[in-house]
Amino acid sequence: MTDRVALISGASRGIGAAVAQGLMREGWQLSLGMRDPADSDGRFDDAHVMRHDAMLRDEGDWAAAALKRFGRIDAVVCCAGIMTPETVVDVDDDTLDAMFEVNVKSPRRLVRAAWPALQRAGKGRVVILASLSGKRVKSAASGAYAMSKHAAIALTHGIRQTGWDDGIRATAICPGFVDTDMARAITDFAPSDMTRPEDVARMVHLALDMPNTASLAEMAVNCSPEAHF
Ligand SMILES: NC(=O)c1ccc[n+]([C@@H]2O[C@H](COP(=O)([O-])OP(=O)(O)OC[C@H]3O[C@@H](n4cnc5c(N)ncnc54)[C@H](OP(=O)(O)O)[C@@H]3O)[C@@H](O)[C@H]2O)c1
Repeated sequence: MTDRVALISGASRGIGAAVAQGLMREGWQLSLGMRDPADSDGRFDDAHVMRHDAMLRDEGDWAAAALKRFGRIDAVVCCAGIMTPETVVDVDDDTLDAMFEVNVKSPRRLVRAAWPALQRAGKGRVVILASLSGKRVKSAASGAYAMSKHAAIALTHGIRQTGWDDGIRATAICPGFVDTDMARAITDFAPSDMTRPEDVARMVHLALDMPNTASLAEMAVNCSPEAHF
């Protein structure tokens, strides 16, 4: 059990919901970001549910409310994300901007808002749900998304470098297909052949629990064989 406090974005469904359920079982205190707080739907007893929409840039209000409620923030887990299948040639600026806003800029703002609290924690943790699309460009249609996910991995390394002396450790989790609404919309993979959201949640738990002397900068996971992942 733990008295630690985590902020989790994208907690309404998919990987974020699995992370929230797992951490709740471990006794973490949770502040959950959702575009519609009604989506929590009784699944997260005692959690602090905040309206969070990356497009509205409301991360500062969320972190301040969490700090007021709990008095500390030990971890930020960024699971909110969007994927529009577009090539780097065809994608329009608005679509590309939206992916950068949700997948990169909003996580940066949330971490920034929580930064003094993470520094005070002495063992602050940041986990960014990046993607294998942050490690390679697998297809033409994943190109625009991959631009944002490569940036998400750069963000994670930048956080790791900046926070090191304060005991902050940052991890980019890089999955292939995970059985959520996002993957089901873009692949013919059978759901049962995809990585389980609960298994990605276990990776998040490991990243949160490792001591400061065992930094996990990146963690890749895949449900199909590729050359390096
Ligand atoms: N599934 C995969 O195969 C896969 C693979 C690699 C990486 N990832 C990454 O893992 C993360 C989680 O993905 P997932 O599979 O769980 O996707 P998902 O099931 O589609 O869930 C996406 C989550 O992001 C939230 N979200 C979307 N737009 C938002 C916005 N503007 N502001 C705040 N929240 C927003 C959604 O909230 P609403 O419910 O309100 O829409 C939902 O909670 C993403 O960053 C994704 O890129 C996923």
